[in-house]
Amino acid sequence: MLRIAVLVSGSGSNLQAIIDEIEKGSLNCEIKYVISDSEKAYGLERAKNHGIETIALDRKIYKGKVSDEILNLINGQVDLIVLAGYLSILNGEILRVFRNKIINIHPSLIPSFSGAGMYGIKVHEAAVKKGVKYSGCTVHFVNEEVDGGEILLQEVVPVFVEDTAETLQKRILVEEHKLLPKAIKLISDKKVKIENGKCYISK
Ligand code: GAR
Repeated sequence: MLRIAVLVSGSGSNLQAIIDEIEKGSLNCEIKYVISDSEKAYGLERAKNHGIETIALDRKIYKGKVSDEILNLINGQVDLIVLAGYLSILNGEILRVFRNKIINIHPSLIPSFSGAGMYGIKVHEAAVKKGVKYSGCTVHFVNEEVDGGEILLQEVVPVFVEDTAETLQKRILVEEHKLLPKAIKLISDKKVKIENGKCYISK
């Protein structure tokens, strides 16, 4: 069974979607840890409510050492790291040890509205400001380039002229909650291969 660590910074609604799929029996994996870079993240409460071990490594205390600390705590104990609304940038050794074993969900169609400084509501503010007709969400592998790893799955969502960042965020979150568990399932079913900067998904 695939053992995962889920990293969160805030509400944790994507974490909840993963928990729900596991509890329904449609995702055959175990969440070993939920880790946050903020003690206040509501995602930690969601994890505790389901008996999952939590770790809070406040970024104000650990500063540049959060990634190394996470690696120390989980190395050898998980097969996949899932960034589910984790808003710090992972760096250092963890990216090498977990090469091709870290995925992230981003609330836009990468490469649009992505990269350093583009997270959370800022992504939707930029999309609404630009007047794009479609946005969406992307699950991608994580490497040294912010939001630059291989794209695993994307889902498209229409953007309407009357949208605000908040209404768009809400529409996209509905799709995120389906896309992230789907990505984990593909990996757990060993259907994903990475080659030449692309993901290949077998039937
Ligand atoms: C989600 O929309 C996720 O895509 C985004 O933060 C939100 C977290 O919501 N992540 C990023 O912007 C990463 N660059 P949640 O805490 O309710 O899952």
